[in-house]
This record gives sequence, C-alpha cells and structure tokens, in this order.
Amino acid sequence: MIEKVPMSAQKFPRELIDRFGRKVDYIRLSITDRCDFRCVYCMAEDMTFLPRDEVLSLEECARLVKIFVRLGVSKVRITGGEPLVRKNALWLFNEIGHLENLGELVLTTNGSQLEKQAQDLKNAGVKRINISVDSLDKQRFKSITRTGDLEKVLKGIQAAKQVGFKNIKLNSVLMRGVNDDEALSLVEFAIRQDIDISFIEEMPLGEVDHTRESTFVSNADTLKLLQSKYTLTPSAYSSGGPARYWQITNTQTRIGFISPHSHNFCESCNRVRITCKGELYLCLGQEDKVDLMPLLRQYPDDDVPIIKAIINSMAIKPQGHDFDLRRAEPAVIRFMSHTGG
Ligand code: 5AD
Ligand code: SF4
Repeated sequence: MIEKVPMSAQKFPRELIDRFGRKVDYIRLSITDRCDFRCVYCMAEDMTFLPRDEVLSLEECARLVKIFVRLGVSKVRITGGEPLVRKNALWLFNEIGHLENLGELVLTTNGSQLEKQAQDLKNAGVKRINISVDSLDKQRFKSITRTGDLEKVLKGIQAAKQVGFKNIKLNSVLMRGVNDDEALSLVEFAIRQDIDISFIEEMPLGEVDHTRESTFVSNADTLKLLQSKYTLTPSAYSSGGPARYWQITNTQTRIGFISPHSHNFCESCNRVRITCKGELYLCLGQEDKVDLMPLLRQYPDDDVPIIKAIINSMAIKPQGHDFDLRRAEPAVIRFMSHTGG
C-alpha cells in the first residue's frame, strides 16, 4: 500500500501566479446568492435562488479560505448576495477572522443587518466594511432596491462606526435618470460621516429589466461634476482593488472610482472569485472557471486535489474582461449576486 504523504510534507508553492505574471493574493467569496434586496441593476424582479444543497456549507467555505491562505492569499472579502442574511454567517467570520497569515478579512454588505451584527463582526476580526448605498432619498432607495429600507441601512452605518470600524466605504452605482443627480449629496453624506465613497460603473452582469446602455453614467462625468464643487487631489491610496482614489481637500473622505468601462484595470488584477456554488471564476467578466464543490465533497479529508485544482486554474485566468455596453446580451449571464461583487 502506498502511504499517504501528509500535507505538511508535500511541497506546494506558497503563492499563486497566473500566466501573465500577476500574483493572485485576494479572493472574493460569495457565501449566498440570496439577498433581502432586489437592486434593479443587480437582480431581476423575481429571482429564483439556489436550493441549499447546491450552495457551499459554511464549513466548506472555511475550508476553502484556509486552503487559499496557505497558497499565499492575504486578503479575503466575504460577499453575496447579502452575506449577512445567511444563517450562522458569523460562525464563518469567527472561524477565519483570526487566521495566521490572513492579512485582511473584509466584507461587502447592503447594511440591512449591520445594526444587529456590527459588534460581532468586529469581534470576529473583520477589518473593513463596504456598504452599498445608491440613494439617500427614502422613496428612491426603495425603488432602486425594490425591498430595501434606507433607515435600517443608515442605522447599520452608525452601528459600524460606533463599534469602531475604520475605513468604512460606501459603494454607489449611479444610473442615468434614476439617481445620477445624487452624486454630490452622496459625497456630502460621506464627508459628514468621515467615511470614503466609491462610484462603481454599472456592469452588464445578468439579464435585468433595463438595457445597461440606457442607464450608463461614466465615472469620468461624475468626476467632472464633483470637481466643480470640491478640490480633489489624486491619492496614492489603494485598497488593493481596482478603485482609483481622490482625496477631498480638508476632509477625511476619499472618493474612489471603479471604472470597468472607461479604464481597463485588468492588467493589475490580483483576485479571483468563488461563487456560493464553489465555482472558482478567474475573472468577473469571463466564463473561465473551475468547479471546486465536487472536489470538496469527494475529498473531505484531503486538501491536495483542491490545492492542485487551484494551482492549475492559474493557467486559465484570462487577460481581461471585455464589457461592451452596446451589446444586447449581458457580457456574462450570471448575476453579480451569484459571482460575488
Ligand atoms: N454593476 C455594477 N455594480 C454592481 N453591483 C451589483 N451588481 C452590479 C452591476 N451589475 C454592486 C453592488 C455592490 C457591489 C459589490 O457591486 O451595489 O455595491
Ligand atoms: Fe442585494 Fe447587493 Fe444585489 Fe442589491 S446589489 S440586490 S443589495 S446583492
């Protein structure tokens, strides 16, 4: 009988490098495709969600995170859907929050559950939180999110500040004719709260009820508008993502721009995404993927096949996305809530 070589004795690279020489040290893990909101740019009005057994268990999520950290990943973002609506999500945060070699555990949320969970997340070791807010008008917030309650989200932001989160960031998607008149008021709010804000250009992910071209607002235009009111200086700050930041003079607030259309950020891409089904997507805007769930379930006590699959996946990480607004069909069929924002 061939003796099984213990994991510790096996030689695996400590870092993930793709064929273009980019080091992958950041994973975004979606822990659920469900959400209590139905944002118009993110979801169709009536969505069908995955049955429970087709979604990674929280134990499987933790196992994957630990494997990636052994492979040199130093930053993990938990996303969804809305990660905090997943039952027992906190267990996962506690399980991975204090892993040695994990530099940063961060979270993207819609804020609806933060009032209740901010303290526990802080205790679990979450370092930074991004909160999506597209409008500060109650009615409009409702119509963009279809089901969301702005009050609850604002209370969530306060709670996050109160328990001591630093570097809270708002994420806003501006849509022409919907909320593009709110760029200034969103920035004013961020300044009052001493927090950062990023504007994300709408991406053609999943089939929604409008054409993406009809609502597109370019970040170049938003920047111009904001410069008419504020003195902005380009900032060297990087959160490790594709956002380009500007500091607003005499404030604590930075404005980030995530511009997948006007600025191709792919050349410095350092991340991969894992869906709630355990699919490892090598690029948000492409179909290249590796299914990790069957391996996780086939080898519950042996990480080697999973490690090998992840290392091999580096050979198919695409050079970049090719979003094109004029195309009638979405660039990729899956929604952001599936892949993880
Ligand atoms: N285009 C741009 N941003 C999107 N988000 C969700 N779907 C889309 C899309 N199609 C945003 C959410 C959240 C962030 C993770 O991604 O508003 O702030
Ligand atoms: Fe939910 Fe975020 Fe999608 Fe809105 S954008 S429906 S909050 S996952």
